[in-house]
Amino acid sequence: MPVKILMVCLGNICRSPLAEGILASKLPNEKFTVDSAGTGSWHVGHSPDKRSIAVAQKNGLCIDAQKGRQFKISDFDEFDYIYVMDNSNYRDVIHLAKTPEHKNKVHLILNELFPDENVDVPDPYFGVSNGFDNVYQMLNDVTDIIAKKLIEKHS
Ligand code: 4NP
Repeated sequence: MPVKILMVCLGNICRSPLAEGILASKLPNEKFTVDSAGTGSWHVGHSPDKRSIAVAQKNGLCIDAQKGRQFKISDFDEFDYIYVMDNSNYRDVIHLAKTPEHKNKVHLILNELFPDENVDVPDPYFGVSNGFDNVYQMLNDVTDIIAKKLIEKHS
């Protein structure tokens, strides 16, 4: 059985598709599965935002086959690790968790890089044009740590 990791943001078109693509590129795919979802439903079935596709492409990753989906309760059983992009996503996902085991699967992603600081990956959707490069950089840094930990723990 592969170890399953879910990346979660609000729309599932900007941050979590990047997080999915970047982490998947750092893990052996016979042992690990990476997916992403949004807490909101506006972009179900949509491709990632073209600015996320572009920044991924600039860094050698193709994420354009991904399709948006909404986070669902069964994801708590389906996935081993759930990484959320910001504090608002954290509240929304924790609110849906019914058991301590489910709650324990949910991690604010940048706490892996800055423990206990509760820093957000900023939502770049309405933001400045270099927002996507900034998000890419943050996610690239933190997924180095996450990939190393997961490979150590599950090998
Ligand atoms: P994401 O960004 O959560 O990083 O995918 C957003 C994309 C779309 C919306 C909000 C955030 N929206 O409101 O449509």
